[in-house]
Amino acid sequence: MKLPIAAAAVTLALFAAPAFAQDIAAGERSWNKCRACHQLGENAKNGVGPHLNGLFGRHTGEVEGYSYSNANKGANITWDEAVFAEYIKDPRAKIPGTKMVFAGIKNDKEITDLTAFLKQFGKDGKKM
Ligand code: HEC
Repeated sequence: MKLPIAAAAVTLALFAAPAFAQDIAAGERSWNKCRACHQLGENAKNGVGPHLNGLFGRHTGEVEGYSYSNANKGANITWDEAVFAEYIKDPRAKIPGTKMVFAGIKNDKEITDLTAFLKQFGKDGKKM
């Protein structure tokens, strides 16, 4: 009678393991912190902040039709994972004068998950 329980435990362990690396579902929950100001996806528009499609590889201030602060436009940053992690921990420390009012995410695992979630969206807003 103990066997099915053991099998279930093994199955659980197998499915749970990849979640330690990058958890897109957790990243999506974290994205809820951004949604008041940012959009993603094929119909994404600029809101309080610019849309975030194809963020990684993008240059600061690159989204057409969005009115950036001079601080953001002049930051001269190309968004990659390392720069994004630094920025999202404390946006105003990384880009002094940014008009993004956001306290930051301090937890490295949450940042990794959020990064994995954001990376799904290509420049055209389609999931890659
Ligand atoms: C209260 C509104 C608000 C929230 C919440 C917010 N942002 Fe922003 N964000 C902005 C604004 C406004 C800008 C434009 C900054 C500027 O021009 O100075 C911005 C800019 C950015 C940029 C730079 C974009 C570029 O094209 O250079 C990134 C990246 C970004 N936000 C990511 C995020 C992420 C990820 C979250 C959630 C964890 C988030 N933001 C939460 C308002 C917000």
